[in-house]
Parts: sequence; C-alpha cells; structure tokens
Amino acid sequence: MVEKLITVDQKKKIFHLHNSKISYLLSVEDGGTLCHLYFGKRVNDYHGQLRYPRVDRGFSGNLPGSLERRFSRDTLPKEYSTAGEMDYHTPAAIVRQKDGSNALFLTYKDYQIVDGKPDLKGLPHAWVKNNSEAQTLIVTLEDKKTGLLFDLLYTIYRDRAVITRSVKVRNEGKEPVKLEKVASMQIDFVGRDFETITLPGAHAHERTIDRNHINQGIHAYQSHRGTSSHQMNPFLALVDPETTEFNGDAYGFAFVYSGNHKFEVEKDQIEQLHVNVGINDFDFNWQLKAGQSFQTPEVLMVYSDHGLNQMSQTFHSLIHDRIMRSKFKDSLRPIVVNNWEATYFDFDEEKLKPIVDEAKKLGIEMFVLDDGWFGHRDDDNSSLGDWQVFDKKFPQGLGHFADYVHEQGLKFGLWFEPEMISYNSNLYKEHPDYLMQVPGRQPSPSRNQYLLDLGRKEVRQNIFEQMSKILSSGKIDYIKWDMNRHLSDIYEADLPADRQGETYHRYVLGLYDLLEKLDQAFPDILLEGCSGGGGRFDAGMAYYEPQIWCSDDSDAIDRLFIQEGTSLVYPQSMMTSHVSVSPNEQNGRITPFKTRGIVAMWGDLGYELDLTKLSHEDRESVAKQVKEYKKIRQITQFGKLYRLKSARTSNQCAWEVISPDQNEVILSVVKMMASGQPAITKTKLVGLDENRHYEDQDSHLVYGGDELMNLGIYDPVEQGDFKAQMYHFKAID
Ligand code: DGJ
Repeated sequence: MVEKLITVDQKKKIFHLHNSKISYLLSVEDGGTLCHLYFGKRVNDYHGQLRYPRVDRGFSGNLPGSLERRFSRDTLPKEYSTAGEMDYHTPAAIVRQKDGSNALFLTYKDYQIVDGKPDLKGLPHAWVKNNSEAQTLIVTLEDKKTGLLFDLLYTIYRDRAVITRSVKVRNEGKEPVKLEKVASMQIDFVGRDFETITLPGAHAHERTIDRNHINQGIHAYQSHRGTSSHQMNPFLALVDPETTEFNGDAYGFAFVYSGNHKFEVEKDQIEQLHVNVGINDFDFNWQLKAGQSFQTPEVLMVYSDHGLNQMSQTFHSLIHDRIMRSKFKDSLRPIVVNNWEATYFDFDEEKLKPIVDEAKKLGIEMFVLDDGWFGHRDDDNSSLGDWQVFDKKFPQGLGHFADYVHEQGLKFGLWFEPEMISYNSNLYKEHPDYLMQVPGRQPSPSRNQYLLDLGRKEVRQNIFEQMSKILSSGKIDYIKWDMNRHLSDIYEADLPADRQGETYHRYVLGLYDLLEKLDQAFPDILLEGCSGGGGRFDAGMAYYEPQIWCSDDSDAIDRLFIQEGTSLVYPQSMMTSHVSVSPNEQNGRITPFKTRGIVAMWGDLGYELDLTKLSHEDRESVAKQVKEYKKIRQITQFGKLYRLKSARTSNQCAWEVISPDQNEVILSVVKMMASGQPAITKTKLVGLDENRHYEDQDSHLVYGGDELMNLGIYDPVEQGDFKAQMYHFKAID
C-alpha cells in the first residue's frame, strides 16, 4: 500500500503533511482560525504540544462576540491573514467590497486531499510525473459575508524536502469584489531568531548574497519593475544565526513567477515572525465578479537541516526535475559561440562566416546570431517588432546563412526580443496602438525601446506569427529570448479604466501564453532566456526556458559572486556562462584565459568573443577547454553542487560537483589576490565515499575518499592574481 503523505486528526482538526524528510503541521483553532503549528524536520506523530499559549495581551483584540481575552488572531501564528480580522500583521490578502470596506473574517470551512498536484492553468508550476509522487491538501477558508472562498493549496512530494503553496480565491457571493492583494502563502514562526538571506543586485551585478539580522518592523524584498528583475530576485531564505553552508536550519522560499513580487518579513511586538510571499500589491487591483476565481502563482518552500548547501541541492533537483519541461532539460547543453561581444551590431554574413569556420575547428557546437539580424537594425534604435531578415547583412536570406552554419556541423541559434517595439519599425507604423502607453502621455524610452502590450491577444498573435514564419523553416535550433528594459507606462488598451490595476499581471500571463504557444509549436528548439543578462532569472521562466544567460557581466571574477548567488536556488544547467575577452569589456579587469574557462564551466560553457582574433596561445586554450568540457559537462551541468569556499569571505572561491552516479568529481579553486608571502591553503572535498579511491585524471595520483575529505589537498602556490585550478577525479573501485 502507498504510504499516505497527509494525515488528518478529524477530531482535533490537525493536518500533518509528512514524508521521510519534513513535516508541516496546521490546525483549526478558536473561531475557525487556521493556525500554523510547524514546518521543519520530520516528526512521526504530533501530540499536541504546540497549542499556542493563551495570554491576554494589551492592544491585541479578540474574536468578535467573545469575552475570551486570552485568544487573539493578532498573536496566534496563522496560515493566512486578511485585513479587518483583528490581526495587525501585514495582511496576506486585501479585498475591497461593494460597500467600500476591506474587512474579511476567514474561518475554516472544509478540506480535501487529492493525489498528485492540480495544474495551475496559465501559470508555471511544479508538476508531478504520476499521482503517487505527491499529495495535495486543499484547505478552504470562507468569509461568510461576501461569500468569498480561499482555497489554500499545499502539495508535499514523497521524496523531497519541499512544500509548494498557492491560493485560489473563488467568489461565490453575489457581488463583484476587487482583490487588492493576494499573497500565495503566509507562514508565521514563533521562537525563532532568524536572519534573512536575499539576492539583490543590479544590471551586470545580479544575485549577490545579502544576509541580515531582522529587527522589529516590516521588511520588504520586492520588484515592481514588471519583471522578477536584476534588482531583487524572487527568493528569500530564513536561517539561524549559526547556519552555515553545511550546518544548521535553512528555510528557502522561491516564487514561481516572473513579474512584480513581494516578500514581506515582519518581526512583531513579541518577536514572532510573519512572512508573506506573492504578487506585489503595488498597482495590483483585480476585479473578481460573482462566479469567477483567481489563482495565484506558486511558492516553493524548502527546508534543510544541513545548511544552505542542502537547501540549494533540494531547489536544484526540484527545479530541474519538476519545474523544467523542455525536452532538452536532461540533454547535454551545447557549447556556444555568440557573436554579441565579438561584433555587436557591426556584422554581415561574410564577417560571421570566419567565426563559424573557426568555431568548427575548435570543436564548438553552436553558433548564436545575436541582436541586429532583422529589420534594418544597425544600432539599438530601430526595428524591434520587425522579425524579418535584414537583407543588407544577409543578402541571400537567413536560411542561406543557417545552411552554412549547419554545413560546418554546428547548430544555429537566433536572438529575438519578442516583447519589444521600436518607434522606428514597420510594426509601429502599422500598429501604433500595440505599444504600451497611457493615453495622453508620452511613453518613456529605455534603451530607446518600448513595451508591447502583451496582455492583448492580437499583439501576442502578431508576434507569434512573425516568429513562426522564421522558426518553421526548420533551420533554427535555439532561441535566445531577450528583454532589455523594464515596464513603465502601465496601461492595457483593452481594459476599462477601473481594471487598469490588472495590467502588470496580465502582461506576465500574456508572456507565459506566448511562451507556451511557442513551446508547443516548436518543441525541438532549445530556448534560452535573457533579460539584459540575468534580469529575469526565476523559477517561472525555468518552466519554459531550461537555461538563462546569467549576467551581462562576463568577467570571471565578478561571475564568481553572481554564480554563487544564483546557485543558492537555480541549478548549474540553468546558468549560461561564457568566456569573453580580457581586459573584460564590462569592468576592464584582466584575468587569465584559463580562469575564465574554469569559471564559465561552472554553468553551460560558451564563448562571447571573436574567435578569429585570438592569439595562438588563447586559441589553443579554447581547443583545450572545449575538449575538457565535453568530458566533464555531464557532471558539471547535472551533478550535485557543493560550495566549499566563497570569495565573499575568503581569498578563494571553490566549488565541487559530484556526478549523478557518484563516480566522478570536479573540483575548481580560484584564488583572488596574490601576495608576496602567500598563505598556504588547502581544500577539503565533501560528499565522497570514504571507502572508495579516486584518481586525479591529470596527475594520476590516487587518493582515498577519506583522505580527500579529511586531509584535503594543498592549493597550488602560484604568482599572479585570479589564478585557477580544476581537478577531475574518477572513482576506481
Ligand atoms: C542583452 C543581452 O544580455 C546580451 O547578451 C545581448 O544579447 C544584448 N542584449 C543584445 O542587445
């Protein structure tokens, strides 16, 4: 018999979601209040000790009509708080009603347990292969006055330390309401002195790890740029002060959504923590008529009792195994040469052919034609929206060039920026109304480009048809889907004035719809995401795009920080990472070619430079790196990652990856600054079998797993900054 993942104590109304790793407990308490009891390491049975202490607190009110002063919704840890129910925490949901009020009083109504996991239509989400790998608890809360029902969805997987959560609001009343905020989840912690870890950043400086103590007050980590953004990735971890990479508790929350998001962390008057995750309520206002429902995006909640590294590994396997759907998710990712930093806009077919020829000689597997191949685009001031080949650059057509690339044995990739429009374009001449703008106002340019109103079906259809014409030639193997500005001038022409608060979310739903259509129509094309580098690097995009360009900063040393932050949540196969020229074009730093290769091999390796201009020595290095990478990419792209040393806290960065079959290990160590009297350092490996022996493929020395883990190996003492070393060990017994 299949073991149940959810048990219910009918009498005490206690719900227990459990597998061999975690438990999540909730209960119904006084006044039909859904109370949060516990999320953490697995407990076999729950015996009721977490009944929240009843204490009379001044200025924390009580249940309507009750004389019991010791019970308050303001202090009890809850699963979902709303405005107007004597709970002063930041509400998870705010709903404006016909009479102008926003007060709700949610009470427990009933529950349902379903095998598997319901699909969230139109939204990316974690999926199940079959119904026996997960179970879903749906707890329904109701507001009697309005007839609103809130279905709180909790899915637990059999083999993962993960709970997924989302909320469906159903209007079963008679009147329309306005949703002003609907978080996808809330969780309250009692008696925990957590710190936050977030991934803030900027363009060319994405996802750098930030760890902070939490003071009393409301702290928000958010984007209202219309996308998940470079500035604040949709992720938050709560950790104990003593939590490290390999020890201690870590709770991670990743939002499966690519638009405006908000993570609220509130430390209240009695040092309890209240966390909401969901669509940002900034400029959000959704009309819900009688009979309609609204489904929020999903949150992935991970628990680790072995520090941040285990949290990351759980996210990696979940995102790879159960968020990504592309047929390429398990395929070795091709080694790419991209012409962007090699030529920028200054190219034509004749100039590109030698790069393709050189790529062939060096063993590179795909040529990606970046920005500038369409319309009449010679700089970034025109042609977005005109997805027809630029004759001047490809006089014999794009197909002719694609054939040339294929004849050299390489695959052919093509850049698009489907969400954008230039004033200077045919699309704008024909459909000026497709440009998102507020009537009577001049829209703001960014990189001299504008947004398409993707919430509108006809706009999406136009772009889909244009792209389909090119893609159905059968000559395109890969798309790089870029997005080089954030949203502004928010207005959807199809919506009435009182529904403009739906525009941001409708844009994201429109984007997902377009991606879904392309995925369905062209499943054999590998899709890579990009938004001015890693500006839309989130679990939502992973559902459609199994890999994403990590950052426009290709400097190997900056990338150590960016890739480390990215790896907190996202698997290596999702990060594309290219070797570029030195001095680096973004920051002027000079780094050894070898180091650039080793750092780029952390993710999906590629080259972002003019292969025809390399020195003899660098050319040899490319050939060597390509050969080496082909041997190890199964391990580096799909293996288990261990972050051993961080350049944030030491003069080195070291990471280790163990192959899925446990037989091979890659270790990379990058030194930051050289010194006249260098300290002698060692690196100790982790996660090996202490009883097996491993051979270093370069020196052919053999070490016991216990030696590599306990004694470690000395790092080379080399002159010069930013030197790096890579080791490949193979188990021999
Ligand atoms: C931003 C991307 O991140 C770059 O790699 C390149 O594709 C440019 N856009 C092209 O405009």
